[in-house]
Amino acid sequence: MTVETIDATKLEAFMGRAVTDLAAAESSAATYLGDRLGLYRAMASGQQMTAGELAALTGTHERLVLEWLRNQAVGGYVEHEGGRFRLPPEHAAALADEESPYFLGGFVEIIAAVWADAGLLEEAFRGDGAIPWGAHDPRLYRGVERFYGATYRSSLVQAWLPALDGVTARLEAGATVADIGCGYGLSTTVMATAFPRSTFVGYDIHSASLDAARDRAHQAGVLDRVRYEERAAIDVPPQGFDLACFFDALHDMGDPVGAAAAARRALAEDGVLMVVEPRAGDRLEDNVGPVSRTYYAGSTFLCTPSALAQDGQHALGAQAGPAALTGVLHAAGFSRVRVAAETPFNLVLEARV
Ligand SMILES: C[S@@+](CC[C@H](N)C(=O)[O-])C[C@H]1O[C@@H](n2cnc3c(N)ncnc32)[C@H](O)[C@@H]1O
Repeated sequence: MTVETIDATKLEAFMGRAVTDLAAAESSAATYLGDRLGLYRAMASGQQMTAGELAALTGTHERLVLEWLRNQAVGGYVEHEGGRFRLPPEHAAALADEESPYFLGGFVEIIAAVWADAGLLEEAFRGDGAIPWGAHDPRLYRGVERFYGATYRSSLVQAWLPALDGVTARLEAGATVADIGCGYGLSTTVMATAFPRSTFVGYDIHSASLDAARDRAHQAGVLDRVRYEERAAIDVPPQGFDLACFFDALHDMGDPVGAAAAARRALAEDGVLMVVEPRAGDRLEDNVGPVSRTYYAGSTFLCTPSALAQDGQHALGAQAGPAALTGVLHAAGFSRVRVAAETPFNLVLEARV
């Protein structure tokens, strides 16, 4: 047996990186609390404040708030001067403003759900790898809505739909749309609000998400044109839809080819399929940096176990990349497939028969 000698410089560099990661990981609980307790929102005015002032504004414990603020200052989330703390507007856009395209508050809810499910994950790793989407800590569903919602609100109507050939004009004139794997239905509600002549059906297998989706559509005043059905993607019936969409859902399905083939049959002859997936390149070597790192983590904890729980023959994972996704869509009977748009977090594919 050969014993490798330790390279002290390499060890030191790795320890630096690992400790930085641990500091960020533990501090994500502080970010979660900042979101939950309204600490960031109370600081969103950009005014300097003491721990006492922030505690009074939020009805929280001053001594704990002081320690929280110190953690936030060391992490560079808030600025600090002589016992007074300030959240700069650029950071408020990510931490305090739910409507901002940069809002990250939902992401820490997803992390909280992952930790709450650590026991489930351990069992899945030792067992068959399966965790149904609906078996997770409920913070997952709301976290996904809030995290992706920031992008749907800022990109879906403004950039993604216009990137698909002729689709916006059809929606404006009055089209029928399927949102498959709709979750809390924010994408459905955003489209229904923007296109008052169109009608929408959201499909999902998670009934609690569908209840939340109906509630959201009701609040947005679009429930007269939006219907939600509990149904697996593979069973979506032929309806002559003008547009069918999968928003961050195709790779969570055990049979993505079957799901996309059902969407093809559900479309009108000249219908369009839009597939929104996590941004990725085709090879592990292409998927570097924090976005891919976090997607591979989510894929391990959420997406791949979801596909495996559906007897996944083809668990794509959350970093499948355009080539694998195009292969799935070709196998499902779509002949014209292209990447129509990209954001730092998303790939948008257009497919036609
Ligand atoms: C990551 S969530 C995305 C939810 C929503 N589209 C969004 O972007 O916020 C994936 C959704 O796909 C649903 N899903 C997973 N497998 C499904 C299947 N076979 N048929 C229908 N929905 C499915 C899950 O229940 C979940 O709501």
